[in-house]
Amino acid sequence: MRKKLIVANWKMYKTPEQTTAFFDEFLPMVASHDRDEIVVCPPFVDLPVAVEAAEGSNVAIGAQNVHWEKEGAFTGEISAGMLTAIAVTHAIIGHSERRQYFNETDDTVNRKLETALEHGLTPIVCVGEVLEEREAGLTEDVLRRQCMRAFNGISAKKAAKMAVAYEPVWAIGTGKTATPQMAADAHTVIRLEAEKAFGKEFADGLRILYGGSVKPDNASALMAEEEIDGALVGGASLDPKNFTRIVKY
Ligand code: 13P
Repeated sequence: MRKKLIVANWKMYKTPEQTTAFFDEFLPMVASHDRDEIVVCPPFVDLPVAVEAAEGSNVAIGAQNVHWEKEGAFTGEISAGMLTAIAVTHAIIGHSERRQYFNETDDTVNRKLETALEHGLTPIVCVGEVLEEREAGLTEDVLRRQCMRAFNGISAKKAAKMAVAYEPVWAIGTGKTATPQMAADAHTVIRLEAEKAFGKEFADGLRILYGGSVKPDNASALMAEEEIDGALVGGASLDPKNFTRIVKY
């Protein structure tokens, strides 16, 4: 049995003050919840207050991005070592918004994944097709390519902590959700690709999350799929009550 991972991706929302307010409300509501792992990924400036608020709780804190170099002249970037120095444990890598608006490529995803793993972070690697690709019947090809290139040159031993998130781009922020069956089919493709790269044992244990308009009222149907090992939640994770309902699907 793979323990499910429920992850909040706040994107570019909330100040430190709003972050503290979120945790004040959220933590007591999920305090006794140990069926699933819970991670919250706020913007970089909120990470210190988030880590402090969640210390000693059952909620882990993740970043939304990480650079592939250890340090250097990379204005505006944040390194894996900086994240682990403040006890951040997870990092989202290759989110479609980063691919779409910030020129993230399969190659940078691969480099970021390698660095994150080297630093002991738990990477959440995002893959997913855009609408035109789905309509052209290219979903499987896209997922295979994204996974193959992301996993390139990384050993199963090193990749042990990694999770993958399937986020069909057409379902993000649109209110359109992949059906549980569509998500399960995509997850099977991703798991096969992981098997090719890392072997069957690794692939069997790999957690593959679904993301894209996950809401309190569709979470339980999605999480009921055996292939779906958790959720990556955008909009509905900003409100502590909504996110709690998703965590407790
Ligand atoms: P929404 O839940 O707002 O559709 O966002 C999904 C997402 O991109 C999470 O990373």
